[in-house]
This record gives sequence, structure tokens and C-alpha cells, in this order.
Amino acid sequence: MITLTVDLGERSYPIYIGDGLLGDKELLLKHIPGSNVLVVSNDTVAPLYLEATLTMLNGKHVETCILPDGEQYKNLETLNRIYDVLLANKMDRNTTIIALGGGVIGDMAGFAAASYQRGVHLVQIPTTLLSQVDSSVGGKTAVNHPLGKNMIGAFYQPRAVIADTSTLNTLPDRELSAGIAEIIKYGLIRDLPFFGWLRDNMDKLLQRDAAALAHAIEISCRNKAEVVAADEKESGQRALLNLGHTFGHAIEAGMGYGVWLHGEAVAAGMCIAANMSAQIGWLEAASVDNIISLIEQAGLPTQAPAELDVERFVELMSVDKKVLDGVLRLVLLKAIGEAVITDAYTHEQLVAAIRSSYPA
Ligand code: NAD
Ligand code: GLY
Repeated sequence: MITLTVDLGERSYPIYIGDGLLGDKELLLKHIPGSNVLVVSNDTVAPLYLEATLTMLNGKHVETCILPDGEQYKNLETLNRIYDVLLANKMDRNTTIIALGGGVIGDMAGFAAASYQRGVHLVQIPTTLLSQVDSSVGGKTAVNHPLGKNMIGAFYQPRAVIADTSTLNTLPDRELSAGIAEIIKYGLIRDLPFFGWLRDNMDKLLQRDAAALAHAIEISCRNKAEVVAADEKESGQRALLNLGHTFGHAIEAGMGYGVWLHGEAVAAGMCIAANMSAQIGWLEAASVDNIISLIEQAGLPTQAPAELDVERFVELMSVDKKVLDGVLRLVLLKAIGEAVITDAYTHEQLVAAIRSSYPA
């Protein structure tokens, strides 16, 4: 087992990464202070991993809340079902909510934990590659609004993240690739050697080589933990973790939540960001080619969806948490391994970058 720490003073917490951690009762129980536990999962993950989770919780008062599966359910209406179970069972302020699932469950259960009785304990048990490398770490919790992705939420850190890599064995290929998008992101924004490692090992990741996956998860979590420790509430460098996300969120909202996977939308978004960085003279053309070919190799989209016209695309981008005083800041690349957050671009350059990103 690999143990990393997200260093946030007295709110610091461990990230455990390993094969078979869902059987480690002691590991889980040491992060649950009270007797009440609510396990939040969905109707895909629960049949696979709820029983193992409940076995570890033997001796606690445990309730479950099984939500419908899908990004389209990541909203206030579904969130309310978590509060319903908490209140119907008179769960108190010492309750621990366990998020068992991918990023959708993690974000929703996390927001429920942040808001129920002004905050109860939270443990993340991420079961997708994307959630193991990104969403379970760092304390961003949220639900979507029809007008914007992740617009209602809170920063709220878990007490622990327990990433059992064996859960990835049941993950569909398309979801595996979606997780790889966020892994590539770390290479692009701040870790050139990792980008090189990914180019050499992409086939192993796609074949689910256990050692390669564990390495990619560890390096991703190390990068994320460092950024979060330096800038928990995103007043500076944490925004770099959103490379490709402003474009990607517009794709997700514009296509209808759940049509493109989050990781797919981010992948296309990173390609648009790379192209735009080159078009404004920051990034070398050869680097853009390397980025696009790695994303392609991962089985991810590299272009904008033809169904979403450029005007709507730009309009959707204006509802973004990186808009400050009406100005949209974008994460762009100076080089592979070096990202910046900037408003030093013109509207025409943005439109041109999106326009050139459609399939010919
Ligand atoms: P997801 O939660 O929808 O999971 C993907 C699919 O895999 C779902 O159908 C799920 O039921 C299924 N699944 C989960 N684990 C499985 C397993 N082990 N075996 C088989 N199927 C399994 O999607 P995701 O990609 O994990 O997360 C995407 C979400 O995360 C988005 O809503 C995005 O906004 C959010 N996100 C949040 C952060 C953050 O910092 N909080 C960061 C990145 C993404
Ligand atoms: N996924 C972006 C962040 O956690 O900040």
C-alpha cells in the first residue's frame, strides 16, 4: 500500500492506494469517529462493492443511500435523497458519510457531508480511475445546475481517501480512458517527466497493467496533493488543475450531462487549449502534436463535438468559476509541463481556437 498525505495542517488526511483495500476493516474504521455511518453509492457500484464495504463496517449503525447512476442525476433533486435518508434515520453530527463510487457520487456525497447539519465526517472510497487520480482528493464537492457544471458546492475535505485499485478491474474501457485524461493533465500542467512516462507506458495503462496503473495513480495524487496543500481554495495555482475544463464543461453542458463523459470533454478541452496556446504564440507546434497524439493514443476525443455550434460553445464558457468581474480566465500552456492562468487573449482568438477544433 502507498500512503500519501494531503498536508492541510490539522485537516491533513491520508490517501491510501493499494490492491484489496476494500477488505481492510481496520484501515477504514480508524477514520470513522462515531457510531453512525451513511454509505452513499449508486445502482451500478453498489451491486459490485457495497457488500464488501458493509462487511468492514460491522458493529456500526449503518444506513445506505443508493442513487441512480449518471452525471444527469448530479443535481439538487438527487442530493435531497441523501438528506432524506440522513434525517429519516436521525443521523447526528458525528455521522460519517462514505462516498462509494466515482466522481459523481464523491462530489454529491461530499456536498451532503459539507452541508448536513453544517458538516459531518466524510470518507472517500473512489472506484473509478478518474476519482482515484483526481476527484476524491482535494475537497471540491458540488452538484450541477442546468445552466452550469458544478455550480452549487463547497470546499470540504474528507478524513481519508481509500483507493482500492482492484475496483478498476470492473471499470468499462471508456471510463478507464476518461480517467487517463485527468492523468495526462498533471503531465501537461506541471510534470514533464510524467508526460514522458505516459508516452512510454500508455499501452500498459490501457491494458490495465497493475503496476503501471498504481504508478500513474500515485504520481497523479502526489501532484494533486501538492497543489491542494499550496492553494486549497483555488486563489492561485489550483486553477491550473482546470486545464481543458472550461472548454470541457461547455461540452458537457452543451451536449447534455452524461452524453460526453467528463474525462472525454476534458480531453477535447485540453486539445483546444493546446491549439489556442500555439495560435497565440506560446506553445510550439511540435508540442501540440505530441499532446494530441498522446490523447488520441488514450482513446480519447481530440476535437469539439460537431453538434455544438461555436456561438453556443462560447456562451456556455461564460458560466465558469474562473470568471472574475466578468473576465474569463483560461488555463493555457507555455510548454508541456508549464501551465498559466491568463486573460491575455482576445475574444477573437478564443473563437478562432474553438472554430479550428471541429472535425473537418
Ligand atoms: P462517474 O462517477 O459517473 O463514474 C463513471 C461510471 O463508472 C458510472 O457509470 C459509475 O457507476 C461507474 N463505476 C464506478 N466505479 C465502477 C467500477 N469500479 N466498476 C464498474 N463501474 C464503475 O464518473 P467519474 O469519471 O468517476 O467522475 C466524473 C465526475 O467527477 C464529474 O461529475 C466531474 O465533474 C467530477 N470531478 C470532480 C472533481 C473534483 O475535484 N471534485 C475532479 C474531477 C472530476
Ligand atoms: N479538479 C480540479 C480541482 O480539484 O481543483
